[in-house]
Amino acid sequence: MNEVKIALLGFGTVGTGVYELLEKKSELIKERIGIKPIIKKILVKDLKKKRNIKIDQKCLTTNVEEILEDPDISIVCELMGGIEPAKSYVLKALQKGKEVVTANKAILAQYGNEIWKEATKRKRFLGFEASVGGGIPVIKTLKEALIGNNINSIIGIINGTTNYILTRMLENNLNFKDALKEAQAKGYAEADPTLDIKGVDSAHKISILASLAFGFYIPVSEVYTEGIEEIDLMDLKFAKDFGYIVKLLAFAQKRKNKIEIRVHPTLIPENHVLTSIRLNYNALYITGDFVGDILLYGLGAGKEPTASAVVSDIIDAIEYSYFRKKPFIKYPLTKNDKFLNIRPIEEVKFRYYFRFSAIDKPGVLSKISGILGKYNISIASVVQIGRQKKKGSVPVVMLTHETKEKNVIKALHEIDKLDVVTSSTKKLRILE
Ligand code: NAP
Ligand code: HSE
Repeated sequence: MNEVKIALLGFGTVGTGVYELLEKKSELIKERIGIKPIIKKILVKDLKKKRNIKIDQKCLTTNVEEILEDPDISIVCELMGGIEPAKSYVLKALQKGKEVVTANKAILAQYGNEIWKEATKRKRFLGFEASVGGGIPVIKTLKEALIGNNINSIIGIINGTTNYILTRMLENNLNFKDALKEAQAKGYAEADPTLDIKGVDSAHKISILASLAFGFYIPVSEVYTEGIEEIDLMDLKFAKDFGYIVKLLAFAQKRKNKIEIRVHPTLIPENHVLTSIRLNYNALYITGDFVGDILLYGLGAGKEPTASAVVSDIIDAIEYSYFRKKPFIKYPLTKNDKFLNIRPIEEVKFRYYFRFSAIDKPGVLSKISGILGKYNISIASVVQIGRQKKKGSVPVVMLTHETKEKNVIKALHEIDKLDVVTSSTKKLRILE
């Protein structure tokens, strides 16, 4: 046997990318591994949809059973997205003895335990390289290259859409809506782009990475998540004036036997390597106890890079099904409470950026600083931007020294009730 038959579930951005890559490279792959991958069937929702790709219509189907019941198809790639029916199809494919590849971080971050268990029970390969970091081989890095390390920290820019939006806003004065439209047109955004903007896509991804890094399943419900929907262009500019670039960062860190796992927009000092990650590029800054610090960098979203990751899993699946290798490591299987010791965000210390909207009159700053002092929050620098004209307010921007989140929550609650403060204070955390 020197051919293997594959089915794709989904023929959108990623599906067409995989199709094109295999069209161009299946001979090269055969030269390299001795087996040629051939796409036999593709599941779509709408057979009549106009597609910008040449394809034999007979290859397309809307009936998943044609794939699941076909013994000739040994690898199923789920590239549809969403929870259902994607999750059921993945489970059914495993039950039918297929090797499975998925780009779907949402099903793994929410139902990974069930899916990983099924793959292990059925002794099937489950590849998910494309679920995090687009074309960056971060899953392989964690599962294989860093296997001799205890991972202490992962800090990542792992959503292409939000990184693209923040870059275009700051560098090109684009407003949020237009920048998002561009990211959607380029195929970076999820079908429901609120998943990107609200930080949920990053939370899905960091839940998968943390599960691999720490060796037990950490579902997305454990990830503290804030998105970029409240970010204003003026915050990006004020932050830059103070020497910082704002990025949506995902963190998974082990400190003093507790895990900190969260996603939020963060001010990064301009000389930090992560500030050079622009547009739809992603980066993962990983620290292991023996390897030290490593940085993985590449295109985190889009057709070609994601197809590259899916095809790498297809090759692993071929190797697994033809040469019967064992999976490299056991997948994280249990939500083991002994290890699931997550530090609540309220207990984490940060430096902060605050933007108060305040009436421009004497005594305002002393009212604000009085409340901050009451909660032990020490001011590092403060600047009022401009003078108030007629009615309205002026932005007062402040950076603080390190303090616990719970103090900040209480202080801002009081400050926002002051009669001299006209709208809720904008709060961003600073990366040290
Ligand atoms: P997409 O462009 O929206 O494509 C989805 C495809 O799935 C379409 O072909 C659609 O069929 C098909 N589909 C959806 N629901 C279906 C159903 N119920 N039955 C049959 N077919 C169905 O999505 P995408 O951007 O390629 O993303 C696919 C997956 O890859 C998602 O899990 C996403 O998170 C992940 N991912 C995407 C990227 C990226 O850059 N886009 C990167 C990494 C991972 P029709 O064509 O008939 O509508
Ligand atoms: N919507 C995702 C992003 C696709 O923008 O990063 C890649 O996972």
